[in-house]
Amino acid sequence: MKQHDPFIWVRETRLAIPGVTREHRFLHITDTHLCVWDEQSSKEEKTESIRREGLWQPVKEEFARISGEPFGDAQKISTVNAFDKLLSLAAAEQPDALLMTGDNLDYMHPAGERYLKKRLREYGGRVLCVPGNHEAAACPGLWESGVQTMDFDGFRLVGVDNRQKTVTKPDLRRLQALCEEKVPLIVLCHIPLATAACKEDLKKLDDYFYIDEDTADDGGRAFARLCKTHPAIKAVLCGHAHGYTATMLAPGKPQIIGSQGMAGAVHRLTVA
Ligand SMILES: [Fe+2]
Repeated sequence: MKQHDPFIWVRETRLAIPGVTREHRFLHITDTHLCVWDEQSSKEEKTESIRREGLWQPVKEEFARISGEPFGDAQKISTVNAFDKLLSLAAAEQPDALLMTGDNLDYMHPAGERYLKKRLREYGGRVLCVPGNHEAAACPGLWESGVQTMDFDGFRLVGVDNRQKTVTKPDLRRLQALCEEKVPLIVLCHIPLATAACKEDLKKLDDYFYIDEDTADDGGRAFARLCKTHPAIKAVLCGHAHGYTATMLAPGKPQIIGSQGMAGAVHRLTVA
């Protein structure tokens, strides 16, 4: 891929974690909303994917307009072409891992799963996916139900399923146990968290788009508060809002809301 591909636009952040001795680079993409059909698709699947693809075209443009993000002819491409471009960037950059924070598929459909598995296998690098609200808790070979982890030298990525604006008790217990292991954690989830420190930044969003630490259900509140208060959790990466926001859950604890990958948004995170 040409490095100046006008489809891709990147926001960069850095995270300092004491004890991490070398730079780790991650590409974080989210909300790619793949609508796929192939020669194995049923007529119904093909029709549904074409219908959904068409529905997104004006909607992704509207999200970009609301957020003041790039949107021109380069972004008016299919979700499959968009994903191919994002993977080309990842193949060129060879990040330590590609991070996908949900709504990877626009809906659970066999052609979408086939395509995503095939493309990630061809890509060949490490990938951590969490599910979004358009997806199921598990998609074998792509993401597992429950808390997922990926270890690096001096820190750990933790994928948490919060796609239903809550986190289950077993998953909360697992996250709490990981916190007690004293390994610094970066949490990946789909839905952003709204804490006192960042509510002002999220005011622009409808409450559909976040988990409020005060008004969510028990699981949602407990998850938000654990992420906010536990010193082992160093940052949260998420999506869902279809607009980029870099905010803070608490002083020194960033939450990066990636924008819609289907319109070219990439968040590049450097951990050092
Ligand atoms: Fe989404």
